[in-house]
Amino acid sequence: MTPTLENQLERDPGMPASSWRLRSDAWEFLRFAVKRIALEGNSGDALASDGEIRRSLRALETIELYWAGFGQRYVRQIGELLAQGDAAGALDRIGRVVHRLRRTTVPGSAEDSFDDAELAEQQDDQDPRPRFEVLLVDETTAGDRDALYAEAQRLRTSADAFIYDFVIVPSADDAIAALLTNPNILACIVRPGFSDRSRQALSRDLRDSIELAHQQQPGAAPASSRSALASVHRVMQLADTLAALRPEVDLYLVAGAHIEDLAGALTHRFRRVFRREDQLELHLSLLRRVSHLYDTPFFSAIQDHARRPVGVFHALPVGRGGSVVSSKWIRDLADFYGMNLLLAETSATSGGLDSLLAPTGAIKKAQDLAARAFGAHRTFLVTNGTSTANKIVHQALVEPDDVVLVDRNCHKSHHHALMLTGGRTAYLEAYPLNDFAFYGAVPLSRIKQLLLDYRAAGRLDEVHMITLTNCTFDGIVYDPERVMAECLAIKPDLVFLWDEAWFAFAAFHPVTRRRTAMAAAKRLEGRLRSAAHASAYEEQRARLFDPETGAPRDDAAWLSERLLPAPDARIRVYATQSTHKTLTALRQGSMIHVYDQDWALEAEYAFHEAFMTHTSTSPNYQILASLDLGRRQVELEGFELVQRQLDLATSLAQAVARHPLLRRTFRVLTAHDLVPADYRESSRPMPLRDGLAEMWRAWDDDEFVVDPSRVTIEITRTGVDGDTFKHQYLMDQYGIQVNKTSRNTVLFMTNIGTSRSAIAYLIEVLVKLAQRFERDRVAHGLPPVASDAEEMPPLPDFSAFAPAYAHGSGLPDGDLRSAFTDGQRRQLIEYVTPEELRERVGRGEEPVSAGFVTPYPPGFPVLVPGQVITAEVLDFMAALDTREIHGFDPAKGYRVIR
Ligand SMILES: Cc1ncc(COP(=O)(O)O)c(C=O)c1O
Repeated sequence: MTPTLENQLERDPGMPASSWRLRSDAWEFLRFAVKRIALEGNSGDALASDGEIRRSLRALETIELYWAGFGQRYVRQIGELLAQGDAAGALDRIGRVVHRLRRTTVPGSAEDSFDDAELAEQQDDQDPRPRFEVLLVDETTAGDRDALYAEAQRLRTSADAFIYDFVIVPSADDAIAALLTNPNILACIVRPGFSDRSRQALSRDLRDSIELAHQQQPGAAPASSRSALASVHRVMQLADTLAALRPEVDLYLVAGAHIEDLAGALTHRFRRVFRREDQLELHLSLLRRVSHLYDTPFFSAIQDHARRPVGVFHALPVGRGGSVVSSKWIRDLADFYGMNLLLAETSATSGGLDSLLAPTGAIKKAQDLAARAFGAHRTFLVTNGTSTANKIVHQALVEPDDVVLVDRNCHKSHHHALMLTGGRTAYLEAYPLNDFAFYGAVPLSRIKQLLLDYRAAGRLDEVHMITLTNCTFDGIVYDPERVMAECLAIKPDLVFLWDEAWFAFAAFHPVTRRRTAMAAAKRLEGRLRSAAHASAYEEQRARLFDPETGAPRDDAAWLSERLLPAPDARIRVYATQSTHKTLTALRQGSMIHVYDQDWALEAEYAFHEAFMTHTSTSPNYQILASLDLGRRQVELEGFELVQRQLDLATSLAQAVARHPLLRRTFRVLTAHDLVPADYRESSRPMPLRDGLAEMWRAWDDDEFVVDPSRVTIEITRTGVDGDTFKHQYLMDQYGIQVNKTSRNTVLFMTNIGTSRSAIAYLIEVLVKLAQRFERDRVAHGLPPVASDAEEMPPLPDFSAFAPAYAHGSGLPDGDLRSAFTDGQRRQLIEYVTPEELRERVGRGEEPVSAGFVTPYPPGFPVLVPGQVITAEVLDFMAALDTREIHGFDPAKGYRVIR
């Protein structure tokens, strides 16, 4: 391997965080090392003389255990050849592996140099059908394994749509390691003969990650007793652990004796329980299950429709290309997009298609599959983005005068929704990150305090919903399970809306998944059902209430404990996701996921009305089809893609932190910069950089964590502001697109489409830019480190609603709807220049904003209708150099209610 920038980034090859490339990297590395010896003509025992080769071969031996196919055999052969001093022979074998991994043919290899087994494998490699891997967990002998492979080959037929290979591991630890390192595994067969511990020399990170996986299940230490009960227990334990890691992986139990007894105890953990003799049934089940993941009912319906000869006597002239192919002026529409787009366009809801407004067929099925994939009770596809998804959920759940606690920095669609529903808005303040001119997230203590304030004022029953953005645009991630648990302890029937516009991907990685709203709702529901929770709850109640009067103790007691909700608290959780932002879907493709125990009674009817209100009667079918395909993709390869995304972002951050020139010019913001120490227990600035286990611990324990797929880089030392850097440098000169900047930061987001070469290109561009900034500094005789850009005034907190719109009880909620409608009346408003406003504020007046004023970026409203305009707001706005400020006309000034 030549020392390019890219491969300077390699980390410990034993890290499961980078396992998507670990196997191919390890083989490439071995090839590089052995090539050196072969070229030197050194014919001694390479294994004895070269520690690096020995180590990498040993690492490969372990890695290959967790992958199906040919690897282990090659590792053995290569070891033997190297020990005999045949480096050229070893190199030839390594070349074959590398080509087989890349699925290319081996150049210059005469077929007669392959043995029969290898020739058969080569042929098998050419099979074009999609291939997946099946993990089998059991202690086996070499004979067992050969028999299994042979049986799998025998059962394979040309009618099968997919093919699979076995990965066979002996222990529970190895099963976890395999699921963490090999994303191709889509099914797992457990046989009770497995042992507990791995005999492999695993990396420390992998060992720690395996321990963490075991600990996620209550009472988790692997049982050593061999009694029948212990045996059932350890099988259940392993099933729960594997299901928690990768819920998309189907579990099967294959047992010998007493299968009927086991079936009763175990079926809800396993898709099916088989006897050893039922090989064919098992084989068919494995294929059927993958075909269920592969199934895209709506996309198939659209394809069917496109193939049918249909006469259109209805709307939509572009349907079937009608108005396009016969035109001499717009034929390029079909040339550019292809005829299929037009063949797929239809306004029909019959003939196998379905209606998004009242789905019963293909769309309903696609929604059910999406619910399965994202762990929801039910999922709704949305074709007008999360902006609309949010309005639907607000309207479904909020009645006029319900108090809604809402992050002031949330997306404008929430503010608009509150204005539409007539809910009373109580803004929550996120912690500010003044050095970087953006906000963090809302600390749980503030949410609890506000709920306690409502309780003290006797208004808690009015508080109905809490909505928060998880994760924030800048990648600050809440712990939704903890937030919901503690809030429900104060008010047990709260509804939660989690805006996961940027977080759909998180459901497909074992560590990030637990901080998604749906996974949190499920875990919380499970926790509330447990006997341990009931007794802990009773104990805590005794501490939190005065035994004499029954009154709650003072707020300090409620704030200092991790509050436990009543076992009968309601789990009512909604998540909105811009699928198109982080997964495969056409623009505007979004989803609403629901986990609501009171759905039928409290929400269903209102939800459907809200869905009708905001959904077009001509929803875009191509968006729906793309959502269906995006769901198929994440169920089959989401884990690999998300791993890659997180790993590549970490590589980018490391490159900036390590490269001498980049380090002098840019600074990657870490958890230490983005999450104040009070809100985290882990001390690692970038946990994933130190391994998956470190990330896992931080994501288990910290109040807030940073999504590692986002890299915020501070650019103060370039001497240019974020907006200029984005437009003039990244976009205009190098065609690199970023979305979010602040005055002195630029956010680089990776996604499931990001490639290694894209990261390498970005690093190359950053190096060029850093060279240029440094040259300019020297040319202008500036000091090596430019002083920080001008001071930015602190971000103003939400001031208050004006008395006309506030409740008057000293609590923060206000009536956004009345303020908004007043602000629409021409006779009630005036335009006032910033200078004039400043004078009015100086005279002690309290001018009131008539509308939303939203600088973009950062993209949250600095003023909302009905809000008192203060000197802090004016200072902040005066210092902003943002080009785009929605709701503010620089020529006329602010819109103010008279
Ligand atoms: C937090 C948040 N919620 C909702 C939205 C709106 O999403 P969409 O563009 O899918 O309408 C955005 C858009 O940037 C957002 O950042």
